[in-house]
Amino acid sequence: MKTVLITGVSKGIGRALAEKFLIEEYRVISTSTTGHVDYSHPNLAIHQLELTSAESIDKCCADIQRLGIKIDILINNAGVLFDDDETSVIIDKLRKSLEVNLIGTIDFTEHIIPIIKKDGHIINLSSSAGSLTNTDMKDAETSHFPFHYPAYKISKCALNMYTRTLAMRMEHREKNSIIVSSVHPGWVKTDMGGDDADLTPEEAAGHIYKLAISSPETGQFWFKGEKYPW
Ligand SMILES: NC(=O)c1ccc[n+]([C@@H]2O[C@H](COP(=O)([O-])OP(=O)(O)OC[C@H]3O[C@@H](n4cnc5c(N)ncnc54)[C@H](OP(=O)(O)O)[C@@H]3O)[C@@H](O)[C@H]2O)c1
Repeated sequence: MKTVLITGVSKGIGRALAEKFLIEEYRVISTSTTGHVDYSHPNLAIHQLELTSAESIDKCCADIQRLGIKIDILINNAGVLFDDDETSVIIDKLRKSLEVNLIGTIDFTEHIIPIIKKDGHIINLSSSAGSLTNTDMKDAETSHFPFHYPAYKISKCALNMYTRTLAMRMEHREKNSIIVSSVHPGWVKTDMGGDDADLTPEEAAGHIYKLAISSPETGQFWFKGEKYPW
């Protein structure tokens, strides 16, 4: 049985991903901030993880390592959008965004790398909002301006650089080693994306699942199976 590790499966895209991998008969090791979710499955395990806390990351990863199971796919899904309505940088929101979307996510990944299989895949849930190429584009669907939610954009742009540098590091360590990808899930109907978004969490999870089980070029940014501009 193959194993996927997914962060943030209480709701939204993370939950749809957990459900998709369970249908595909994966063992799903996953996290939520409470250590619980309101659904269950014999192949689903939930661990408590708070990405703003180094202590929580240490404990969660130690618990997962103790299972003695090698991971095929790690999906760093958990993320926050604190400055949806902001057009200038609010330092407190920037700090909190970086803690979850960047530093906590990197800390968690670095703990888990030793138990990821050699031909494994790490997927970072990024966003079109983190694309430097798109910075000056007004979002036609949401009417957001290029300077909207800067903390979120900065966090996802930096996460993309982690994808790139980690991919190079894995390649340098060993040819054809762990693949590392960033993915834009689309604009998705979740607590974060809102009701007007154009994809359901299940549709987004379907695209991410296909990417996760394929062996794409490492160190790239993807959207619906196509390369997305950095
Ligand atoms: N929705 C969109 O349109 C969209 C677009 C582009 C990118 N994304 C990205 O896709 C990912 C999933 O987004 P979503 O729309 O599904 O969001 P969501 O519905 O708000 O769910 C976010 C998940 O992240 C977890 N989380 C939040 N803060 C956390 C923390 N401090 N420590 C650990 N886990 C934490 C939550 O867990 P708890 O419920 O347990 O707190 C929840 O499971 C995010 O990385 C997001 O940036 C989403």
